[in-house]
Amino acid sequence: MGSSSLLSAGRCGVVLLQVIFVLSCCCCCCMGVRGDKNVAFSPCDDTTVEKGDGFTFGLLIGSNASFFSQSRNYVQQLSPCNVVNSHSSSSLYSNRLSVFRPKVDEISLLVVNYTELNPENFSGGGFAVVYAGSKFAAVSSPKFVANSSYHITSLSMVLEFDTGRLKTLIWKSDGCQACQGVSPFVCVNGECAIRSQDCKRSGGVQDCSLSIQLTWAGTDRRYQVFNSWYQINSLGQYSLYKLYTSLKDSLTKQYNSVFH
Ligand SMILES: *[C@@H]1O[C@H](CO)[C@@H](O)[C@H](O)[C@H]1NC(C)=O
Ligand SMILES: *[C@@H]1O[C@H](CO)[C@@H](O)[C@H](O)[C@H]1NC(C)=O
Ligand SMILES: *[C@@H]1O[C@H](CO)[C@@H](O)[C@H](O)[C@H]1NC(C)=O
Ligand SMILES: *[C@@H]1O[C@H](CO)[C@@H](O)[C@H](O)[C@H]1NC(C)=O
Repeated sequence: MGSSSLLSAGRCGVVLLQVIFVLSCCCCCCMGVRGDKNVAFSPCDDTTVEKGDGFTFGLLIGSNASFFSQSRNYVQQLSPCNVVNSHSSSSLYSNRLSVFRPKVDEISLLVVNYTELNPENFSGGGFAVVYAGSKFAAVSSPKFVANSSYHITSLSMVLEFDTGRLKTLIWKSDGCQACQGVSPFVCVNGECAIRSQDCKRSGGVQDCSLSIQLTWAGTDRRYQVFNSWYQINSLGQYSLYKLYTSLKDSLTKQYNSVFH
């Protein structure tokens, strides 16, 4: 069981980040571990990857509206890299950014500490967008993460590549299979959530951190197929934190009732 540290980018002084837990380490050992040869360390760098590489992407939290530009009859989702790089004035600037660098094709669990993000402060609630690349930009749809009523605690995302180039970032939902009926979880828009009033920062006892499970699909630069999404999909349950049992102590206590 390996773990690697994440980069954390501090725009707005936000340090969220935590640790990536890697499930599939044993496989790498058998196959011979190749080093990380990807020299693109900014989420906005365009790159192609192969197995063994790290891959850097950004996660922004803001209001749903901040991710779109609206002109009279035309609504378009903004690509954060293009906006940020052009230094144009944009509502995206007021959003809160963090950067992760998991290993390609390794099932990873990102733990996002909401404490300094205040997602509930955004008008209409906080939404997360994951993105990478500029010329070849890939941007996920905005995903609701928290408002003053609820904090989402687990999400699942698939990164799909075509010959090593990131093509799409897709949120996957299994409709709360992992937390259905398990206190203190409630199902909000098909995702496991905790009532905000029960979170520590509101005086409750629950640690309402968000964990995002990443899996990989498509092919790398050498046409090797990424298997991790296929493996998860065939299990029929996308939210895999039940399987991270040896990480129990590293993860927040909120999941204990699910492990037992
Ligand atoms: C987010 O904003 C877009 C563009 O205005 C809109 O189409 C979409 O329905 C909004 N999503 C939510 C969940 O409000
Ligand atoms: C989240 O961050 C706050 C402040 O930085 C810290 O007190 C808290 O322990 C963190 N929670 C977890 C689960 O790491
Ligand atoms: C978020 O809102 C709460 C109360 O609504 C306030 O106390 C807190 O300072 C706000 N945080 C930020 C970062 O704006
Ligand atoms: C928070 O979001 C949930 C799910 O979208 C919604 O049902 C609820 O009304 C929202 N709460 C507030 C205060 O906007």
